[in-house]
Amino acid sequence: MLGIEGTAHTVSAGIVDGERVLSNVSSTYRPERGGIHPREASIHHFENVTRVVKEALSAASLTMNDIDLVAFSQGPGLGPCLRVVSTAARALALKYRLPLLGVNHPLGHIEIGRKLSGASDPVMLYVSGGNTQVIAHRYGRYRVFGETMDIGVGNLLDKVARDMGIPFPGGPEIERLARDGRKLLHLPYSVKGMDTSFSGMYTATLRHIRKGERREDIAFSIQETAFSMLVEVLERALYVLDKEEILLAGGVALNSRLREMVSSMARDAGVRAYMTDPKYCMDNGAMIAQAGLLMFTSGIRQRLEETGIQQRQRIDSVPAPWVAEVQG
Ligand code: ATP
Ligand code: FE2
Repeated sequence: MLGIEGTAHTVSAGIVDGERVLSNVSSTYRPERGGIHPREASIHHFENVTRVVKEALSAASLTMNDIDLVAFSQGPGLGPCLRVVSTAARALALKYRLPLLGVNHPLGHIEIGRKLSGASDPVMLYVSGGNTQVIAHRYGRYRVFGETMDIGVGNLLDKVARDMGIPFPGGPEIERLARDGRKLLHLPYSVKGMDTSFSGMYTATLRHIRKGERREDIAFSIQETAFSMLVEVLERALYVLDKEEILLAGGVALNSRLREMVSSMARDAGVRAYMTDPKYCMDNGAMIAQAGLLMFTSGIRQRLEETGIQQRQRIDSVPAPWVAEVQG
């Protein structure tokens, strides 16, 4: 199975089989200044998509003739980027007469996490640039039980980093700075049920930056406050849904402080915490291939007309009949 990802900053091709990831090759667009510019990112994807597919094939010692499905990221994401990737995937599928499946991007993050960690029916915290969602499988599909009311937690980290002069993606540098933080600055803690909000925290952080607080203390305070909020909603979901596993997925799941806080909550709650393999936390083609494989083997097929891009597609709009719910 070949998967091509390209919803935002990264264009990537990955190949998986029933057991493992055979290869994964990515190219990330890095804006010279400011945030991601959709058209520039799409030009980057256009210039690199053929190369990443070729390199993924050769890294797996395969040719297109060995591929039996082309899967691509259908949405949600930036329109121009989605169009490049869907066009490339359609061209490949038509040329090699292969079935084509449009895959939901968050579904990819979750399925690669499940595959490589061994989690079966977890409550998931999907934390990335654009998303902050608490997800669990219920009645044939993944459902969102809580989410951010405004910006994603990754976006918060990226915006704060940018205001401190750190280029995209800001998460890794915020994590590094936070290690030397000593003072916990006051930031709004905003949780409602299983929903979260981060825009107030962003505004308050700007005030701390202007006041000249140390960057290390700012990074530390954001991590401690934002991640405590995430752990709280995750723990609430665990009890409400009566699940016994947790899975952390998405780019922010790379953060070792978040991993530590989630693991410690899981220990106290007597449940198992699974983490997505760091190599596959950020957007990658292998995750799209893996979700495509599960869709295909459970009988899901799409006609060419059904493979249009869906800029705002939500995970709860796509069926996921392959998960055996443990309880709930
Ligand atoms: P979405 O999945 O919502 O469409 P995305 O595809 O842009 O968003 P991912 O590639 O899944 O996002 O994740 C990117 C995000 O992960 C960025 O916001 C980045 O700052 C964040 N990130 C990466 N490494 C770390 C880290 N070590 N700590 C915190 N955040 C991190
Ligand atoms: Fe993503």
